[in-house]
This record gives sequence, C-alpha cells and structure tokens, in this order.
Amino acid sequence: MKLLEDRIRKEGIVLPHNVLKVDSFLNHQVDPQLMFEVGKEFAKRFADKQITKILTVESSGIAPAVMTGLAMQVPVIFARKHKSLTLTDNLYTADVYSYTKQTTNKISIAKRFIEPNDSVLIIDDFLANGQAVQGLLTIADDANIKVQGIGIVIEKTFQKGRTLITKRNIQLEALAQISSLENGEVQFLN
Ligand code: G4P
Ligand code: NA
Ligand code: NA
Repeated sequence: MKLLEDRIRKEGIVLPHNVLKVDSFLNHQVDPQLMFEVGKEFAKRFADKQITKILTVESSGIAPAVMTGLAMQVPVIFARKHKSLTLTDNLYTADVYSYTKQTTNKISIAKRFIEPNDSVLIIDDFLANGQAVQGLLTIADDANIKVQGIGIVIEKTFQKGRTLITKRNIQLEALAQISSLENGEVQFLN
C-alpha cells in the first residue's frame, strides 16, 4: 500500500535491534485518515470471506482493527493483556511471549463475545515473530471458531512470523513489507 509505505519512509525511525518506530501515525499518535485507508484496504483484500468479527490485541492493534470493522461493518474484539490471571472461567486465554521484551503476557477474551458460528479476521499493527497472532490463533482454536484471514499493517519479513502463519494455510495480507532495517535504513520487499 503506497500511502503507507510513503508514511513509513517519511516518518519511520529505525531503532537498534531492528525496531521501526512509527509512533507519529500508528503506535502513539494515530492518523485516523491513514487508518481508515488501512481499514478499507483490508476490507477489500478479505472481501470474499464471510467475516463476522475482527480480533486484535490491545493496544496498538485497536486503531487499524476498528477501522477495518467500520469498513466491513462487523464488531471488533481486542484481547486484553495481563501479567497474570487467576479467574479464567469466563475467559479464553493464551500466553504470548515477547522476544523484544523477553516477557510472557497472558491475553484474554471474554467467552460471551464469541458465538459458535463466528468466522474471524485477525488484525495487528506489526508482524515480527508472530507471537501475538499465535496467541489469537490459540484462542480461536479453543473457542472453536474459524480464522478466515490475518491482516497486518507492517510486516518485518526478515523475522519468522509469516512462516508460523502460512503453515496453517490462512490468508495473510500485509500492507507494508519490510525486508531489512539494516544500517538504519528501511528496505521494502521488492
Ligand atoms: P510478535 O508479536 O510478532 O512476536 O512481536 P514481538 O514479540 O517481537 O514484539 C513485541 C511487541 O513489539 C508487539 O507489540 C509488537 O507488535 C511490537 N513490535 C515488534 N516489532 C516492532 C517494530 O519493529 N516496531 C514497533 N513499533 N513495534 C514492534 P506489543 O507489545 O503487543 O505492544 P502494543 O500493541 O501494546 O503496542
Ligand atoms: Na501489537
Ligand atoms: Na506494538
């Protein structure tokens, strides 16, 4: 998606350890116009799927997920993050390990927001090692609902997230694909 790549080129800052900072439009300040274009693009790419709900993880997944929900006219559920959980009876939960922070968080979704025939689209801001998406897939499996697709705003193709997902044969769409952040420079795939 050219509009998004242009913004990354203009405002993205490459930090050490292969981290791209995009907090002027996605991770801190949010550009609603750009996010609406992102939402419409996901809606277009998954138009042939019968999506009933969108799943994401708080906090940075919420903006693109809500705009996609607006474009597709379906509700959006964001999994909540916890350090630990004691009462889990009414929740679907999964562990998410963060390689960058070297911590494990639990994510959860209330069972009452999932219906038996739901067929969901997962949306997230970044795909790096795929642990957040993996957690949502675990929850979807537990809840016995079908994941019809995964939409990512920015994929770092040099990390292993994609291989985790394609193993499961789920349609994966990334709107910007970054193949390298070496020497402080953003390289897009192709
Ligand atoms: P993974 O889910 O793909 O395995 O990501 P990883 O553990 O490597 O990264 C942990 C957090 O850092 C995730 O956000 C992920 O979206 C984010 N992240 C990964 N690579 C980058 C990057 O290059 N730039 C930025 N800005 N973020 C990156 P999170 O902890 O869930 O945070 P948030 O959603 O509350 O912001
Ligand atoms: Na995220
Ligand atoms: Na993030």
